[in-house]
Amino acid sequence: MDESSIINTYKRYAGNYDKIFGRIFEQGRKEVVERMACHNGDRILEVGIGTGLALNYYPFFTQVFGIDISPHMLAVARRNIRQAGLKNICLAIMDAQRICFPDNFFQKVSAMYVATVVPDPRLMMDEIKRVCIPDGDIFILNHFSNTHFLPSLIEAMLSPLQKFLGFRPRFSLHRFIEDNELDIVDSMPVNLCGYWTLIHARNHKP
Ligand SMILES: C[S@@+](CC[C@H](N)C(=O)[O-])C[C@H]1O[C@@H](n2cnc3c(N)ncnc32)[C@H](O)[C@@H]1O
Repeated sequence: MDESSIINTYKRYAGNYDKIFGRIFEQGRKEVVERMACHNGDRILEVGIGTGLALNYYPFFTQVFGIDISPHMLAVARRNIRQAGLKNICLAIMDAQRICFPDNFFQKVSAMYVATVVPDPRLMMDEIKRVCIPDGDIFILNHFSNTHFLPSLIEAMLSPLQKFLGFRPRFSLHRFIEDNELDIVDSMPVNLCGYWTLIHARNHKP
């Protein structure tokens, strides 16, 4: 996965993204925002916000910043925000691996269905930890490699198509947690057959 293939892939998806990936990923998005237990004045960052399908779930008293590398996905997000009349959202084209916000700026940061898309998930996580306050909440929602025979065979077969699909079908949960030294608060299976995982981590800073 590289920047230009991501932008091209999501240019292709943008117009129909909500129809294809709206319902199917909805439970996970709802769970993330519910688990955030937002407080008045919370500043929240949604990394790889796409078309903004989680935005309706945030309470109006939170300030939500959404970043994405795809101008086409953000154009749909802007339309969705306008149509829903949301006033507490701010969007920007930005690379998750180089986040242009100061250190310790957000109480809560989420990345939903993004970790398998960004070229370097570790860089993204370093940036997420940097902009999140100490002991703040980090929510990662993603598909991780399945250990059962059939799903893992399908993932292996899809792997060579990752640039076309726009995500990495194989992605180890164990390695992701270890590489990023995540302090897990809890994790739960979500969506269809529990094939996706929601991770809630505490942002421990040295
Ligand atoms: C599968 S979509 C998920 C969108 C949304 N979070 C959702 O719940 O449907 C992945 C998103 O990550 C974005 N993305 C991929 N690489 C990125 C990067 N390096 N920086 C910011 N956004 C990125 C894509 O443009 C796309 O909108």
